[in-house]
Amino acid sequence: MRGVILAGGKGTRMGELTRVTNKHLLPVGAWPMVYHPLKKLTGVGLQEILLVSGTEHMGDFVELLGSGKDHGCRLTYRVQDEAGGIAQALGLAEHFCMGSRSLVLLGDNIFRDPLIGLLEKANTRPDWAWIGLKEVHDPGRYGVAELDGDKVLGIEEKPEKPKSPMAVVGIYIYPPDVFGLIKTLKPSRRGELEITDVNNHYIQQGRMGCFNLDGYWTDAGTLDSLDYANELVRKEPPRF
Ligand code: G1P
Repeated sequence: MRGVILAGGKGTRMGELTRVTNKHLLPVGAWPMVYHPLKKLTGVGLQEILLVSGTEHMGDFVELLGSGKDHGCRLTYRVQDEAGGIAQALGLAEHFCMGSRSLVLLGDNIFRDPLIGLLEKANTRPDWAWIGLKEVHDPGRYGVAELDGDKVLGIEEKPEKPKSPMAVVGIYIYPPDVFGLIKTLKPSRRGELEITDVNNHYIQQGRMGCFNLDGYWTDAGTLDSLDYANELVRKEPPRF
């Protein structure tokens, strides 16, 4: 299995903080944000890791993380020319993954649980896609899963009337056929290739599993959520 960290985007919701830097380089606890997904991946033994970001700050990521040797991994970098969505960014990992499964993390997601539980569950069905879920008080901000027990019936992206409080978090495991699927996607209303469309394809094929996070989870893509992520990490250090 290969690790993928998606660390693109313009960070337009962060105001002056992202004027000259990338949001994933802002501090969460004692580290730049991107250390968190990196340590989650190396924590479950992944050694081949791809980081995808835009042109503007790729140099900063390379300067910060280098070859990956200080983190016990080998890093590969790929540039996403324009912000075309999470699924488009993941599509750039096709050659890197070379027929392997991929464990994909959104670089601005901060959570307490280590990935080992998700990985063990996903290994029971390696030909399925797997997503992480977390109950939240404001599901309309996220992809929201409709569930029947442990079965995911469908996912809606930022619905006005969420069918459950369960947000789809930025932790995904995909089989190698995800890249063929991404090539069939059409841009959504916001002009992006949506990861939710990818996930709904697997649901329709009866090949989607899910995993509930026990510990805290937040994205850190707004000023408020960045503050919150720092508060959470200070109170209870994440486990890798
Ligand atoms: C993205 C996904 C959404 C997911 C969220 C998790 O949203 O589209 O399904 O719940 O990440 O952080 P975005 O942050 O791009 O609005």
